[in-house]
Amino acid sequence: MEENTMTDGKMNRRTFLAAAAVGAGAVITRPLHGLAQAATAAAGGGAINAAILGAGTQGMVLLRDALAIPGVRFKAVCDIWAYSQKYASGTIRKAGQDAPAVFEDYREMLAGAGKMDLQAVIIATPDWMHAEQAVAAMKAGLHVYCEKEMSQSLAGAGQMVQTARQTGRLCQIGHQRRSNPLYRFALDLIARDKICGRVTTCYGQWNRPVSPASTWPEKFVIPDETLKKYGYADADGKPSMHEFRNWRWYRKYSAGPIADLGSHQIDIFNWFLGAEPAAVLASGGRDFNPSRQWCQDILAVYEYNTKGGSARAFYQVLNSNGYGNYFERFMGEAGTISISEDPARCHLAFEPAGKVPEWMTDVATVAADGQTPFSLVEAFKKRGGPDAEAQLKKNIHRLHLENFFAAVRAGDVKLLTCPPETAYATAAAVLAVNDAVESGAKVQFKPEQFKA
Ligand SMILES: NC(=O)c1ccc[n+]([C@@H]2O[C@H](COP(=O)([O-])OP(=O)(O)OC[C@H]3O[C@@H](n4cnc5c(N)ncnc54)[C@H](O)[C@@H]3O)[C@@H](O)[C@H]2O)c1
Repeated sequence: MEENTMTDGKMNRRTFLAAAAVGAGAVITRPLHGLAQAATAAAGGGAINAAILGAGTQGMVLLRDALAIPGVRFKAVCDIWAYSQKYASGTIRKAGQDAPAVFEDYREMLAGAGKMDLQAVIIATPDWMHAEQAVAAMKAGLHVYCEKEMSQSLAGAGQMVQTARQTGRLCQIGHQRRSNPLYRFALDLIARDKICGRVTTCYGQWNRPVSPASTWPEKFVIPDETLKKYGYADADGKPSMHEFRNWRWYRKYSAGPIADLGSHQIDIFNWFLGAEPAAVLASGGRDFNPSRQWCQDILAVYEYNTKGGSARAFYQVLNSNGYGNYFERFMGEAGTISISEDPARCHLAFEPAGKVPEWMTDVATVAADGQTPFSLVEAFKKRGGPDAEAQLKKNIHRLHLENFFAAVRAGDVKLLTCPPETAYATAAAVLAVNDAVESGAKVQFKPEQFKA
């Protein structure tokens, strides 16, 4: 056994140290922080009856990944759009499960939760519905897996935290990098092995090219009365398919790109630095699409006071240029680690003051940014434990869902890799960026702002 060195204070729990002989010399492999056990638990045990609420683009990703987890049965689909209902229910049937009950109104689904013996719901509706639906689901006795941003308002996020505590239901928020073994390995290298030395600079980006508005098949236009009933109407009260499909552009339904994309990566800054920020300043623009209510591009600088001293994190989200895609980077006097959900963007480079550990000398290097840093993926394969390669092959959301269902089976909230308290602290850091853009002033945080 080896002590888990997770820096968020919530992860000190069962870990294991798998010893394996790799290549000619036996090396001690890395602990997988309970994730391997979680996956095993998810594979065994009794069936869990689940529902999917919001079966759009991301809901379908989660549904497919959850259907691949043994013992998870989908009894219900809820979505206000016939198009999504049809797609989700067909996918469940094609996976060999019974035809699910189909609902338009989540309140009707929750009213029938007992009859359907539902235990869990996956929520992947637009952000503005998360707090209302997650709170109602927990009050109806269901465990909840809810997509990020957990809420577009901090008040909503706070209600989710309080309700999880009051009801004792498990609530996992969809910051899936927290269940990603490569991220957890990188954190060990930084926080435990101090491979980068003292980290003083972090960088993160999510760059996307200019893209057109989302559309819809003509035969699946939602009737006006349905759009109105569920709040998809413009400022004049006119039902709007455009707003329904492009909800991310509007303040009513979303907190904009910083919440949509930045929340994933700013969560990693907090997690890896083991701290919440002390201040943030930011600038943004709507240069290419003034009809978006939120800035399409934002550059933000966070200041942190970590245990090791001060640090700064620069974050940029662009919807005007996709160069370089998405990754996070941690830079110290001894080295740099770049990490991403895209394995091709995961590397480790040493500074002149850094020392390449002996176990890494034969790890493959890759071409990146005009250099040849070590491949983080190859390093993980060498040190990540006997099932490192199998973990890497799994879909990124599947690992986070496995963690959720394993925690539900075990009835152990402490197993969750992203409980609502953690996501609340992230939301507090993220949502303040919009205030900083609008005020043009540095926003100072108080530690109590990160607690619900
Ligand atoms: N974790 C990730 O990597 C990731 C990736 C993409 C999206 N997301 C999140 O997933 C969520 C959904 O995003 P998306 O891209 O799938 O959006 P989407 O617009 O494609 O899908 C939303 C679905 O919710 C349905 N819906 C809307 N209001 C509803 C209501 N009141 N009740 C029931 N159904 C309703 C819509 O009909 C649609 O089927 C968002 O919170 C988003 O931030 C997370």
